[in-house]
Amino acid sequence: MANPKIIVAIDGYSSCGKSTLAKQLAGKLGYNYIDSGAMYRAITLYFLRNHIDFSQEEIVRANLQNIHLSFEYVEAHHKSEIHLNDENVERYIRDLIVAEKVSEVATIKEVRQFAVAQQKKMGNRRGIVMDGRDIGTVVFPDAELKIFMTADLEIRVKRRFEELEQTGMPATIDEVKHNLAMRDYIDSNREESPLRKAEDAKTLDNSNMSRDEQLEKVLNWVAESIELKKLAQVH
Ligand code: CDP
Repeated sequence: MANPKIIVAIDGYSSCGKSTLAKQLAGKLGYNYIDSGAMYRAITLYFLRNHIDFSQEEIVRANLQNIHLSFEYVEAHHKSEIHLNDENVERYIRDLIVAEKVSEVATIKEVRQFAVAQQKKMGNRRGIVMDGRDIGTVVFPDAELKIFMTADLEIRVKRRFEELEQTGMPATIDEVKHNLAMRDYIDSNREESPLRKAEDAKTLDNSNMSRDEQLEKVLNWVAESIELKKLAQVH
C-alpha cells in the first residue's frame, strides 16, 4: 500500500527558518510547498503600490476583489513562486518596505478570510507543506503533523540580515532586528488568529541545530505521522 499523504503545518516566529525547513521537507516527500506569508506580503505589495488606505474596511474589501494570487512552479528555482495578478512578485515581496507593513495588513479580518479560504483549498488533496502563523490552528487544524518553530531573536536577526544581504536588499542589523521584534509582537497579539502553538504541535527550537539535523528530526516525525495515519485507516 502506498503511503498516505499528510499535511505538514509549520508555524512560528518571523525568520526562524520555517521556509527553509518546509522547502527541504517538500523536496524529500515530493509534496507541494506553500509559503502562506507570501500571500500576505503580496497583498501588502498591492496595497502599497496602489496607495490603498487599508485602515478602511470598505476600501480593503473592494480592493481584495482586484487581487488574484496564484503559486506557479518555477523550474529554475525548484519552487512555487507567488504571482500577483499574473506577475511574479517573489523578489519584491521580501523588501523591507513590505516587511514594515505586512503584519499590520495581516491583522485585517477581511484579508485573513481572503487568504485562508484559498489556503484551505490548496490542502484538499493533502500532500502539502505549508508554513505561516496560523496554519496548525486555523487553516489546517486537522493536519497530521504540526510543528511550532522558534529560535533565539539574535540568531534570527543574523539569519535574516544575511539573507537580505545575499539578495542585494539594503538593511542594517538594527532595522532587521526592529522589524522582526515588531512583527512577532503584532502577530502574537492580534485579535484575528494570533500566532499560537497549537496544543498538539511539536516544538522545534533550531537555535543550535544545523539544517541537516533539523531535517532528520522532522523526517522522523513525518514517518511517525504517516504510520499513525496508516493505522487509523486500517482500524
Ligand atoms: O519569512 P518570515 O518569517 O519573516 O515571514 P512570512 O512568513 O513571510 O510572513 C510575513 C508576515 O505575514 C508575518 O509577519 C505575519 O504578519 C503574516 N502572516 C500571517 O499573519 N499569517 C500567516 N499564515 C503567514 C504570515
